[in-house]
Amino acid sequence: MSSSPKALQVRDLHVDFIEEDGSLEVLDGISFDLDEGAFTCLLGPSGGGKSTLLRTLAGLITPTSGEISFAARPGGVNTGLVFQKPNLMPWRSLQANIALPLEIEGLSSPEISERVAKMISLVGLQGFERSWPHELSGGMAQRVAIARSLVQDPEILLLDEPFGQLDELNRERMGFELLRVWSEAHKTVLMVTHSIQEAVFLADRVLVITRRPARISLDLPINLPRPRQPELRYTPAFMELAGRLHAALFRESNT
Ligand SMILES: Nc1ncnc2c1ncn2[C@@H]1O[C@H](COP(=O)(O)OP(=O)(O)O)[C@@H](O)[C@H]1O
Ligand SMILES: [Mg+2]
Repeated sequence: MSSSPKALQVRDLHVDFIEEDGSLEVLDGISFDLDEGAFTCLLGPSGGGKSTLLRTLAGLITPTSGEISFAARPGGVNTGLVFQKPNLMPWRSLQANIALPLEIEGLSSPEISERVAKMISLVGLQGFERSWPHELSGGMAQRVAIARSLVQDPEILLLDEPFGQLDELNRERMGFELLRVWSEAHKTVLMVTHSIQEAVFLADRVLVITRRPARISLDLPINLPRPRQPELRYTPAFMELAGRLHAALFRESNT
């Protein structure tokens, strides 16, 4: 048993969506903890409830029952959520997009400028402060989305298939970039991906959920050395872990 401090504890979480012809049971008793500073990936069949779980943790969906407790931090923000689409505001510059949550929070302009500049440098976008969203590549836009969600200094960064729209090489590049941001920002990360390789390469631990209604079917520690190097993907240890995840996922998507 790990005794590290917990960033999050989820207990027996149930989410049902009420529909005209009854209710749709999506999460069926999900329990897990996230260690502070850990990088966890979540895999599961499509339509299985992964986004529902993230949105519930972000407070966008009220659970039917169960408990979600975050490490107590008075006045702090619990989660920042990044989606597959960056959802930037086209009429705002890159820096104004990142500033938006702080403007809503009502911080002073000097403080906003300072925090936005820090985030821009963290995600490696110096020199693009005044660029417009339409001028950015997919990878750059997603870095802006990550910066926007980190600017409020959330306890946990939630990522929902953040690189799903990128081609394979950019996806790999963004994976490295995310690992760098994660280690520099000292955040707890929970990331949904549909890529087994990506999950094993990035994470300290991978959770697999079942078909709907979702329960956790596998909780697999990834004890591979860091910093992760590209060659790691071709080692027996990596392949063994990927194989176990593949078997668990295949069981779940096989109807
Ligand atoms: N707001 C909602 N109202 C009703 N049903 C929903 C809502 N959001 C998601 N669902 C349904 O819940 C199930 C799980 O969806 P989702 O969490 O998006 O799955 P995943 O992200 O794993 O692909 C799907 O059947 C989806 O249609
Ligand atoms: Mg989803």
